[in-house]
Amino acid sequence: MSDKSAKLVLPNGEELDLAVYSPTEGNDVIDVSQLVKNGYFTYDPGFMSTASCESKITYIDGGKGILLYRGFPIEQLAQSCDFMEVSYLLLNGDLPNVEQKKAFVDRINNHTMVHEQLAMFFRGFRRDAHPMAIMVGVVGALSAFYHDSLDINNPIHREKSGFRLIAKVSTIAAMCYRYSKGHPFVFPRNEMSYAENFLHMMFSMPSSDSKPDPVLVKAMDRIFTLHADHEQNCSTSTVRLAGSSGANPFACIAAGIASLWGPAHGGANEACLKMLQEIGDVKNIPEYIARAKDKNDPFRLMGFGHRVYKNFDPRAKVMRESAHEVLKATGKQDDPILQVAMELEKIALEDPYFVEKKLYPNVDFYSGIILDAIGIPTNMFTVIFALARTVGWVSQWSEMISEPTQKIGRPRQLYTGLSERDVKPIEQR
Ligand code: CMC
Repeated sequence: MSDKSAKLVLPNGEELDLAVYSPTEGNDVIDVSQLVKNGYFTYDPGFMSTASCESKITYIDGGKGILLYRGFPIEQLAQSCDFMEVSYLLLNGDLPNVEQKKAFVDRINNHTMVHEQLAMFFRGFRRDAHPMAIMVGVVGALSAFYHDSLDINNPIHREKSGFRLIAKVSTIAAMCYRYSKGHPFVFPRNEMSYAENFLHMMFSMPSSDSKPDPVLVKAMDRIFTLHADHEQNCSTSTVRLAGSSGANPFACIAAGIASLWGPAHGGANEACLKMLQEIGDVKNIPEYIARAKDKNDPFRLMGFGHRVYKNFDPRAKVMRESAHEVLKATGKQDDPILQVAMELEKIALEDPYFVEKKLYPNVDFYSGIILDAIGIPTNMFTVIFALARTVGWVSQWSEMISEPTQKIGRPRQLYTGLSERDVKPIEQR
């Protein structure tokens, strides 16, 4: 596997040859897995330099602003494929032909309904609960409903759980919204596309026959495609780590949803729109730029910067285009929030602080604007990210479980606590 090596000189002078693996794309990787035998651990908080696994699914070149799913550039996929084709690609390694797509969509459609008892489960939540809190609970609870697909050592069970998750997460996400509004749950319509059906379950009323606007359906589908996978990010690593212990896939995806919730990850689109609303007017932008640069102010410009992209996030480019299409279709092109966003983007791209630190707009900068224009409330933004990312999580989880040498993930630490000491009787402490 390796024809290169790196030499490591240990503090005692001993020299170790460490195997170096060359990927198909990206940085070479030094194999440090045997270091423990020599009495050493590696130390890498935030996994800045650590490849946690081998994967064939998604590749990011952050310097060049490239994102590939199974080798295909994200821009081409967003242009030429729908979310079901992209889902098939992530799970199976290649794009489907017409028959393969039909069979795949039929299987997804077979699982779009949820167990009636699950609908009761919602009633246990307060109406004003954050929909991500409901998502974590309800998706985790799927393992209590679908006992016939929980054997992770059985490839047929794994596949069935994957289909169930991808199909039901859209129904559950819409149910979260309907529950918060006090509106009746809407059954899925299998003759609709995945994105159209989602908008139907979100917004249609039993009292009328309205159909989702095709421009909004296209934008929704693109949002799903652009968020479908992103290699070993925080939530995906969480899904892999949870899954490495043998936990069932519903529980693992619930763990991923919990991890996605944070504002530094999936919560950023919600935080970004709130920030744009707080800025409110173009004339207030300089004050916020100054705050973002101030080391003593915790404020950050939400929707800017990325751990991996040190260039324009390729997803942001596609999203920018969609934002304009949707605002035009909804008659909101003069929306002050959009004006603030465009001006903020312009100023930040020219400001030396942002230029030097390579802080470009990321996918969340535009997705919030689109979702808001579609009529989706801010607290649902991260839910939509979770919905779209479910196929990525399932693909990554399946890849890990089918790996014969798969081990439980168990990092070590640099312990800086007290050394061993004796417990004194309570009256002597
Ligand atoms: N506004 C102002 N300064 C920033 C920002 C920002 N948005 N992002 C990074 N910086 C500064 C940061 O203060 C640091 O400065 P210094 O070197 O002087 O200490 C430098 O840039 C490097 O930042 P970092 O925090 O060390 O970088 P990171 O890789 O740990 O963080 C990030 C990446 C995404 C958490 C961060 O850029 C951020 O908080 N951005 C805003 C939140 C956001 O938009 N998140 C969505 C990410 S895209 C969706 C996803 O994939 O999850």
